[in-house]
Amino acid sequence: MGTYHVTPVTAGDYRRLAEKRLPRFLFDYIDGGAGEEQSMAANADDFSRIKLRQRVMRDVSKVDTGMELFGQSMDMPVVLAPVGLAGMMGRRGEVQGARGAATAGVPFTTSTVGICPIEEVNAAVPQPAWFQLYMLRDRQLVQSLLGRAQDSGCDTLVFTVDLAVTGPRHRDTRNGMLGGELKGKLAKLWQIMLRPRWILDVGIRGKPHDFGNLREAVVDVQDLEGFKAFIDRQFDPSVTWQDIAWLRTQWQGNILIKGVMSAEDACQAVDAGADGVIVSNHGGRQLEGVASSISMLPEVVAAVGDRAEVLMDGGVRNGTDVVRALASGAKAVMIGRPWVYAMAACGETGVARLLSVFQQEMARSMALMGVTRVGQLTSETIDRP
Ligand SMILES: Cc1cc2nc3c(=O)[nH]c(=O)nc-3n(C[C@H](O)[C@H](O)[C@H](O)COP(=O)(O)O)c2cc1C
Repeated sequence: MGTYHVTPVTAGDYRRLAEKRLPRFLFDYIDGGAGEEQSMAANADDFSRIKLRQRVMRDVSKVDTGMELFGQSMDMPVVLAPVGLAGMMGRRGEVQGARGAATAGVPFTTSTVGICPIEEVNAAVPQPAWFQLYMLRDRQLVQSLLGRAQDSGCDTLVFTVDLAVTGPRHRDTRNGMLGGELKGKLAKLWQIMLRPRWILDVGIRGKPHDFGNLREAVVDVQDLEGFKAFIDRQFDPSVTWQDIAWLRTQWQGNILIKGVMSAEDACQAVDAGADGVIVSNHGGRQLEGVASSISMLPEVVAAVGDRAEVLMDGGVRNGTDVVRALASGAKAVMIGRPWVYAMAACGETGVARLLSVFQQEMARSMALMGVTRVGQLTSETIDRP
Protein backbone atom coordinates (compact mmCIF):
# COMPACT_ATOMS: atom_id res chain seq x y z
CA MET A 1 0.00 0.00 0.00
CA GLY A 2 2.90 2.38 0.67
CA THR A 3 2.73 5.53 2.72
CA TYR A 4 -0.71 6.85 3.52
CA HIS A 5 -1.23 10.57 3.21
CA VAL A 6 -4.29 12.56 4.22
CA THR A 7 -3.83 15.17 1.51
CA PRO A 8 -1.65 15.03 -1.55
CA VAL A 9 0.58 18.12 -1.66
CA THR A 10 3.50 17.80 -4.04
CA ALA A 11 3.81 16.66 -7.64
CA GLY A 12 5.34 13.46 -6.26
CA ASP A 13 2.25 12.81 -4.13
CA TYR A 14 -0.04 13.20 -7.13
CA ARG A 15 2.26 11.02 -9.20
CA ARG A 16 1.89 8.14 -6.72
CA LEU A 17 -1.90 8.54 -6.70
CA ALA A 18 -2.01 8.68 -10.50
CA GLU A 19 -0.05 5.46 -10.63
CA LYS A 20 -2.77 3.79 -8.55
CA ARG A 21 -5.57 5.25 -10.63
CA LEU A 22 -4.34 4.68 -14.18
CA PRO A 23 -3.92 1.52 -16.20
CA ARG A 24 -0.17 0.79 -16.27
CA PHE A 25 0.34 1.61 -19.95
CA LEU A 26 -1.27 5.04 -19.56
CA PHE A 27 0.75 5.88 -16.44
CA ASP A 28 3.95 4.83 -18.20
CA TYR A 29 3.02 6.90 -21.23
CA ILE A 30 3.01 10.05 -19.05
CA ASP A 31 5.78 9.10 -16.69
CA GLY A 32 8.33 7.83 -19.17
CA GLY A 33 10.92 9.37 -21.44
CA ALA A 34 13.21 8.43 -24.30
CA GLY A 35 15.89 5.75 -24.17
CA GLU A 36 17.39 5.18 -20.74
CA GLU A 37 15.57 8.34 -19.56
CA GLN A 38 18.83 10.13 -18.76
CA SER A 39 17.78 13.45 -20.25
CA MET A 40 14.47 13.20 -18.43
CA ALA A 41 16.30 12.63 -15.13
CA ALA A 42 18.77 15.44 -15.89
CA ASN A 43 15.89 17.90 -16.30
CA ALA A 44 14.95 17.48 -12.65
CA ASP A 45 18.45 16.79 -11.24
CA ASP A 46 19.95 19.94 -12.70
CA PHE A 47 17.33 22.04 -10.95
CA SER A 48 18.47 20.73 -7.59
CA ARG A 49 22.02 21.93 -8.31
CA ILE A 50 20.94 25.56 -8.48
CA LYS A 51 21.14 27.09 -5.01
CA LEU A 52 19.04 30.00 -3.85
CA ARG A 53 20.73 32.83 -1.96
CA GLN A 54 19.14 33.43 1.41
CA ARG A 55 18.88 37.13 2.27
CA VAL A 56 17.51 38.56 5.50
CA MET A 57 16.27 41.75 7.11
CA ARG A 58 14.46 43.16 4.11
CA ASP A 59 10.82 44.16 4.11
CA VAL A 60 9.07 41.16 2.58
CA SER A 61 5.65 41.79 4.09
CA LYS A 62 4.16 41.95 0.57
CA VAL A 63 5.36 39.37 -1.95
CA ASP A 64 3.79 39.35 -5.40
CA THR A 65 4.20 36.30 -7.68
CA GLY A 66 2.13 37.88 -10.45
CA MET A 67 3.38 39.01 -13.84
CA GLU A 68 2.28 39.84 -17.35
CA LEU A 69 3.03 38.00 -20.55
CA PHE A 70 1.81 39.15 -23.98
CA GLY A 71 -0.54 41.54 -22.23
CA GLN A 72 -2.14 38.72 -20.25
CA SER A 73 -1.81 38.98 -16.49
CA MET A 74 -0.96 35.77 -14.67
CA ASP A 75 -1.01 35.04 -10.93
CA MET A 76 2.39 33.38 -11.30
CA PRO A 77 4.78 32.72 -14.20
CA VAL A 78 3.55 29.17 -14.83
CA VAL A 79 1.72 27.80 -17.87
CA LEU A 80 0.27 24.32 -18.21
CA ALA A 81 2.16 22.60 -21.04
CA PRO A 82 0.42 20.85 -23.93
CA VAL A 83 0.05 17.14 -23.21
CA GLY A 84 -1.37 14.78 -25.81
CA LEU A 85 -4.07 12.30 -24.76
CA ALA A 86 -4.71 14.09 -21.44
CA GLY A 87 -8.38 13.15 -21.85
CA MET A 88 -7.41 9.51 -21.42
CA MET A 89 -5.90 10.25 -17.99
CA GLY A 90 -9.01 11.83 -16.49
CA ARG A 91 -12.57 12.41 -17.69
CA ARG A 92 -12.47 15.16 -20.36
CA GLY A 93 -8.97 15.80 -19.03
CA GLU A 94 -8.15 18.91 -21.05
CA VAL A 95 -11.26 20.66 -19.74
CA GLN A 96 -10.35 19.73 -16.18
CA GLY A 97 -6.78 20.94 -16.68
CA ALA A 98 -7.96 24.22 -18.16
CA ARG A 99 -10.43 24.79 -15.34
CA GLY A 100 -7.80 24.05 -12.70
CA ALA A 101 -5.46 26.51 -14.42
CA ALA A 102 -8.21 29.14 -14.53
CA THR A 103 -8.78 28.79 -10.79
CA ALA A 104 -5.06 29.33 -10.23
CA GLY A 105 -4.96 32.28 -12.64
CA VAL A 106 -2.53 30.79 -15.15
CA PRO A 107 -2.84 29.85 -18.85
CA PHE A 108 -3.53 26.36 -20.15
CA THR A 109 -2.23 25.00 -23.45
CA THR A 110 -4.26 22.55 -25.54
CA SER A 111 -2.35 19.98 -27.57
CA THR A 112 -2.97 19.25 -31.26
CA VAL A 113 -3.49 15.67 -30.10
CA GLY A 114 -5.74 16.38 -27.14
CA ILE A 115 -8.95 14.43 -26.64
CA CYS A 116 -11.17 17.48 -26.08
CA PRO A 117 -11.44 19.82 -29.06
CA ILE A 118 -10.27 23.40 -28.57
CA GLU A 119 -13.88 24.62 -28.73
CA GLU A 120 -14.88 22.37 -25.81
CA VAL A 121 -11.92 23.60 -23.73
CA ASN A 122 -12.50 27.28 -24.43
CA ALA A 123 -16.22 27.02 -23.71
CA ALA A 124 -15.38 25.79 -20.20
CA VAL A 125 -13.08 28.64 -19.12
CA PRO A 126 -13.18 32.45 -18.98
CA GLN A 127 -9.76 32.98 -20.67
CA PRO A 128 -9.13 31.11 -23.92
CA ALA A 129 -6.36 28.52 -23.84
CA TRP A 130 -3.08 28.71 -25.74
CA PHE A 131 -3.06 26.42 -28.76
CA GLN A 132 -0.22 24.02 -29.53
CA LEU A 133 0.45 22.97 -33.11
CA TYR A 134 2.39 20.12 -34.66
CA MET A 135 2.98 20.73 -38.34
CA LEU A 136 1.04 18.17 -40.36
CA ARG A 137 1.71 17.23 -43.95
CA ASP A 138 -1.86 18.15 -44.78
CA ARG A 139 -1.55 21.96 -44.74
CA GLN A 140 -5.25 22.42 -45.35
CA LEU A 141 -5.92 20.55 -42.14
CA VAL A 142 -3.41 22.80 -40.36
CA GLN A 143 -5.10 25.87 -41.83
CA SER A 144 -8.49 24.73 -40.66
CA LEU A 145 -7.12 23.89 -37.19
CA LEU A 146 -5.58 27.33 -36.80
CA GLY A 147 -8.81 28.91 -38.00
CA ARG A 148 -10.82 26.96 -35.42
CA ALA A 149 -8.40 27.89 -32.63
CA GLN A 150 -8.60 31.59 -33.49
CA ASP A 151 -12.38 31.51 -33.94
CA SER A 152 -12.72 30.06 -30.47
CA GLY A 153 -10.61 32.87 -29.00
CA CYS A 154 -7.01 31.60 -28.82
CA ASP A 155 -4.37 34.22 -29.43
CA THR A 156 -1.14 32.48 -28.43
CA LEU A 157 0.19 29.74 -30.67
CA VAL A 158 2.78 27.28 -29.39
CA PHE A 159 4.48 25.72 -32.39
CA THR A 160 6.32 22.57 -31.33
CA VAL A 161 9.38 21.82 -33.44
CA ASP A 162 11.17 18.97 -31.66
CA LEU A 163 9.13 16.08 -33.01
CA ALA A 164 10.61 15.58 -36.48
CA VAL A 165 10.40 11.91 -35.51
CA THR A 166 9.18 10.42 -32.24
CA GLY A 167 11.81 9.58 -29.61
CA PRO A 168 12.29 5.95 -28.62
CA ARG A 169 9.92 5.44 -25.67
CA HIS A 170 10.86 1.98 -24.48
CA ARG A 171 8.25 1.80 -21.72
CA ASP A 172 5.53 2.04 -24.36
CA THR A 173 6.87 -1.06 -26.06
CA ARG A 174 7.63 -2.92 -22.85
CA ASN A 175 4.18 -2.51 -21.31
CA GLY A 176 2.22 -3.27 -24.47
CA MET A 177 1.04 0.28 -25.23
CA LEU A 178 2.50 -0.16 -28.69
CA GLY A 179 2.00 -3.90 -28.85
CA GLY A 180 -0.17 -4.61 -31.87
CA GLU A 181 -0.20 -8.35 -31.40
CA LEU A 182 -2.59 -10.33 -29.30
CA LYS A 183 -0.14 -10.42 -26.41
CA GLY A 184 -0.02 -6.63 -26.23
CA LYS A 185 -3.79 -6.30 -26.52
CA LEU A 186 -4.38 -8.78 -23.73
CA ALA A 187 -1.80 -7.04 -21.55
CA LYS A 188 -3.57 -3.70 -21.98
CA LEU A 189 -6.95 -5.24 -21.33
CA TRP A 190 -5.63 -6.77 -18.12
CA GLN A 191 -4.11 -3.45 -17.01
CA ILE A 192 -7.48 -1.78 -17.65
CA MET A 193 -9.43 -4.46 -15.76
CA LEU A 194 -7.29 -3.73 -12.69
CA ARG A 195 -8.54 -0.12 -12.67
CA PRO A 196 -12.36 -0.19 -12.34
CA ARG A 197 -12.51 3.46 -11.25
CA TRP A 198 -10.74 4.51 -14.42
CA ILE A 199 -13.10 2.35 -16.48
CA LEU A 200 -16.11 4.17 -15.03
CA ASP A 201 -14.67 7.68 -14.92
CA VAL A 202 -12.75 7.81 -18.18
CA GLY A 203 -13.54 4.64 -20.09
CA ILE A 204 -17.31 5.13 -19.93
CA ARG A 205 -18.10 8.66 -18.77
CA GLY A 206 -15.15 10.26 -20.53
CA LYS A 207 -16.28 9.53 -24.08
CA PRO A 208 -15.80 10.30 -26.92
CA HIS A 209 -12.21 9.11 -27.03
CA ASP A 210 -11.10 10.65 -30.25
CA PHE A 211 -8.74 13.48 -31.12
CA GLY A 212 -11.18 16.36 -30.86
CA ASN A 213 -8.99 18.69 -32.93
CA LEU A 214 -8.44 16.17 -35.68
CA ARG A 215 -11.94 14.86 -36.24
CA GLU A 216 -11.69 15.76 -39.92
CA ALA A 217 -8.65 13.52 -40.24
CA VAL A 218 -10.46 10.57 -38.65
CA VAL A 219 -7.90 9.14 -36.26
CA ASP A 220 -8.93 6.25 -34.07
CA VAL A 221 -7.57 6.73 -30.58
CA GLN A 222 -8.96 3.45 -29.27
CA ASP A 223 -5.97 2.02 -30.93
CA LEU A 224 -2.75 3.65 -29.76
CA GLU A 225 -0.88 1.78 -32.44
CA GLY A 226 -3.07 3.75 -34.84
CA PHE A 227 -2.11 6.97 -33.04
CA LYS A 228 1.57 6.25 -33.60
CA ALA A 229 0.91 5.35 -37.23
CA PHE A 230 -0.96 8.65 -37.66
CA ILE A 231 1.98 10.59 -36.23
CA ASP A 232 4.43 8.79 -38.48
CA ARG A 233 2.18 9.45 -41.48
CA GLN A 234 1.09 13.00 -40.78
CA PHE A 235 3.78 14.73 -38.67
CA ASP A 236 5.93 16.54 -41.16
CA PRO A 237 9.70 16.01 -40.70
CA SER A 238 10.53 18.30 -43.63
CA VAL A 239 9.51 21.48 -41.78
CA THR A 240 12.12 24.27 -41.70
CA TRP A 241 12.34 27.87 -40.51
CA GLN A 242 10.80 28.97 -43.82
CA ASP A 243 7.51 27.48 -42.73
CA ILE A 244 7.26 30.03 -39.93
CA ALA A 245 6.62 32.70 -42.57
CA TRP A 246 3.62 30.70 -43.76
CA LEU A 247 2.48 30.20 -40.19
CA ARG A 248 2.67 33.97 -39.70
CA THR A 249 0.19 34.45 -42.54
CA GLN A 250 -2.22 32.02 -40.84
CA TRP A 251 -1.94 33.30 -37.27
CA GLN A 252 -2.63 36.85 -36.12
CA GLY A 253 -1.54 36.44 -32.50
CA ASN A 254 1.71 35.57 -30.75
CA ILE A 255 3.83 32.65 -31.86
CA LEU A 256 6.08 30.75 -29.45
CA ILE A 257 8.51 28.16 -30.82
CA LYS A 258 8.72 25.19 -28.47
CA GLY A 259 11.64 22.79 -28.46
CA VAL A 260 14.58 25.16 -28.90
CA MET A 261 17.73 23.91 -27.17
CA SER A 262 20.55 26.05 -28.58
CA ALA A 263 21.50 29.70 -29.02
CA GLU A 264 21.71 29.21 -32.79
CA ASP A 265 18.18 27.84 -33.13
CA ALA A 266 16.85 30.50 -30.77
CA CYS A 267 18.31 33.22 -33.01
CA GLN A 268 16.83 31.56 -36.09
CA ALA A 269 13.44 31.42 -34.40
CA VAL A 270 13.60 35.10 -33.53
CA ASP A 271 14.82 36.02 -37.03
CA ALA A 272 11.90 34.02 -38.45
CA GLY A 273 9.55 36.26 -36.50
CA ALA A 274 8.76 34.32 -33.33
CA ASP A 275 7.50 36.34 -30.37
CA GLY A 276 9.09 33.88 -28.02
CA VAL A 277 10.90 30.57 -27.66
CA ILE A 278 10.41 27.74 -25.20
CA VAL A 279 13.62 26.02 -24.16
CA SER A 280 12.45 22.43 -24.00
CA ASN A 281 13.62 18.88 -24.65
CA HIS A 282 10.01 17.69 -24.56
CA GLY A 283 10.36 16.47 -20.99
CA GLY A 284 13.18 14.12 -22.01
CA ARG A 285 10.86 12.26 -24.37
CA GLN A 286 12.64 13.04 -27.63
CA LEU A 287 16.45 13.22 -27.97
CA GLU A 288 17.93 10.94 -25.32
CA GLY A 289 21.34 12.27 -24.32
CA VAL A 290 20.50 15.93 -24.86
CA ALA A 291 21.28 18.31 -22.00
CA SER A 292 18.62 19.37 -19.52
CA SER A 293 16.47 22.37 -20.47
CA ILE A 294 17.48 24.33 -17.37
CA SER A 295 21.20 23.93 -18.21
CA MET A 296 20.66 25.33 -21.74
CA LEU A 297 18.44 28.20 -20.61
CA PRO A 298 21.14 30.85 -19.88
CA GLU A 299 22.74 30.33 -23.30
CA VAL A 300 19.41 30.89 -25.03
CA VAL A 301 18.53 33.88 -22.86
CA ALA A 302 21.88 35.51 -23.68
CA ALA A 303 21.38 34.92 -27.42
CA VAL A 304 17.81 36.20 -27.55
CA GLY A 305 18.28 39.26 -25.34
CA ASP A 306 15.21 41.44 -25.34
CA ARG A 307 14.17 40.53 -28.88
CA ALA A 308 11.67 37.90 -27.70
CA GLU A 309 10.35 36.18 -24.59
CA VAL A 310 12.14 33.07 -23.35
CA LEU A 311 10.19 30.38 -21.51
CA MET A 312 11.39 26.93 -20.47
CA ASP A 313 10.00 23.56 -19.46
CA GLY A 314 11.23 20.16 -18.30
CA GLY A 315 11.69 19.05 -14.72
CA VAL A 316 9.87 21.89 -12.97
CA ARG A 317 8.39 20.10 -9.96
CA ASN A 318 7.63 22.83 -7.42
CA GLY A 319 7.56 26.55 -6.76
CA THR A 320 11.24 26.56 -5.84
CA ASP A 321 12.08 25.31 -9.34
CA VAL A 322 9.99 28.12 -10.81
CA VAL A 323 12.11 30.59 -8.82
CA ARG A 324 15.31 28.87 -10.04
CA ALA A 325 14.18 29.08 -13.67
CA LEU A 326 13.24 32.74 -13.39
CA ALA A 327 16.54 33.61 -11.75
CA SER A 328 18.24 31.74 -14.62
CA GLY A 329 16.57 34.07 -17.10
CA ALA A 330 13.19 32.52 -17.98
CA LYS A 331 10.18 34.79 -18.26
CA ALA A 332 7.92 31.90 -17.28
CA VAL A 333 7.92 28.10 -17.11
CA MET A 334 5.64 25.38 -18.39
CA ILE A 335 4.80 22.26 -16.43
CA GLY A 336 3.81 19.02 -18.14
CA ARG A 337 3.66 15.85 -16.06
CA PRO A 338 2.83 17.50 -12.72
CA TRP A 339 -0.53 18.84 -13.88
CA VAL A 340 -1.42 15.56 -15.56
CA TYR A 341 -0.59 13.55 -12.42
CA ALA A 342 -2.75 15.92 -10.36
CA MET A 343 -5.59 15.76 -12.85
CA ALA A 344 -5.45 11.95 -13.14
CA ALA A 345 -5.41 11.68 -9.34
CA CYS A 346 -7.91 14.35 -8.26
CA GLY A 347 -9.32 16.04 -11.36
CA GLU A 348 -9.74 19.77 -11.70
CA THR A 349 -9.39 20.39 -7.95
CA GLY A 350 -6.14 18.48 -7.89
CA VAL A 351 -4.73 20.74 -10.60
CA ALA A 352 -5.89 23.88 -8.80
CA ARG A 353 -4.51 22.66 -5.47
CA LEU A 354 -1.14 21.69 -6.88
CA LEU A 355 -0.84 25.09 -8.55
CA SER A 356 -1.72 26.84 -5.32
CA VAL A 357 1.07 24.88 -3.58
CA PHE A 358 3.45 26.02 -6.34
CA GLN A 359 2.42 29.60 -5.71
CA GLN A 360 2.86 29.33 -1.95
CA GLU A 361 6.28 27.78 -2.40
CA MET A 362 7.26 30.55 -4.79
CA ALA A 363 6.08 33.27 -2.46
CA ARG A 364 7.85 31.76 0.55
CA SER A 365 11.11 31.24 -1.36
CA MET A 366 10.96 34.82 -2.58
CA ALA A 367 10.36 36.15 0.93
CA LEU A 368 13.28 34.15 2.32
CA MET A 369 15.45 35.38 -0.53
CA GLY A 370 14.54 38.95 0.32
CA VAL A 371 12.70 39.46 -2.96
CA THR A 372 9.16 40.80 -3.37
CA ARG A 373 8.53 40.79 -7.13
CA VAL A 374 9.36 38.23 -9.84
CA GLY A 375 11.32 40.88 -11.75
CA GLN A 376 13.85 40.93 -8.91
CA LEU A 377 14.76 37.27 -9.47
CA THR A 378 18.02 37.84 -11.32
CA SER A 379 21.18 35.75 -11.63
CA GLU A 380 22.49 37.49 -8.50
CA THR A 381 19.85 35.74 -6.42
CA ILE A 382 21.16 32.21 -7.14
CA ASP A 383 24.38 30.21 -7.36
CA ARG A 384 24.63 28.03 -10.46
CA PRO A 385 27.08 25.12 -10.60
C1 LIG B 1 2.42 12.49 -21.78
C2 LIG B 1 3.01 13.67 -22.46
C3 LIG B 1 2.47 14.10 -23.65
C4 LIG B 1 2.98 15.23 -24.28
N1 LIG B 1 2.38 15.69 -25.43
C5 LIG B 1 2.82 16.85 -25.99
C6 LIG B 1 2.13 17.42 -27.09
O1 LIG B 1 1.11 16.90 -27.55
N2 LIG B 1 2.62 18.56 -27.62
C7 LIG B 1 3.75 19.18 -27.14
O2 LIG B 1 4.16 20.22 -27.66
N3 LIG B 1 4.40 18.67 -26.07
C8 LIG B 1 3.96 17.53 -25.49
N4 LIG B 1 4.59 17.04 -24.37
C9 LIG B 1 5.73 17.79 -23.79
C10 LIG B 1 5.23 18.82 -22.77
O3 LIG B 1 4.54 19.86 -23.40
C11 LIG B 1 6.38 19.44 -21.98
O4 LIG B 1 7.36 19.92 -22.88
C12 LIG B 1 7.05 18.48 -21.00
O5 LIG B 1 6.11 17.61 -20.43
C13 LIG B 1 7.77 19.28 -19.92
O6 LIG B 1 8.43 18.45 -19.04
P1 LIG B 1 7.83 17.99 -17.62
O7 LIG B 1 6.85 16.93 -17.90
O8 LIG B 1 9.05 17.51 -16.90
O9 LIG B 1 7.21 19.20 -16.96
C14 LIG B 1 4.09 15.92 -23.72
C15 LIG B 1 4.62 15.48 -22.51
C16 LIG B 1 4.09 14.38 -21.87
C17 LIG B 1 4.67 13.96 -20.56
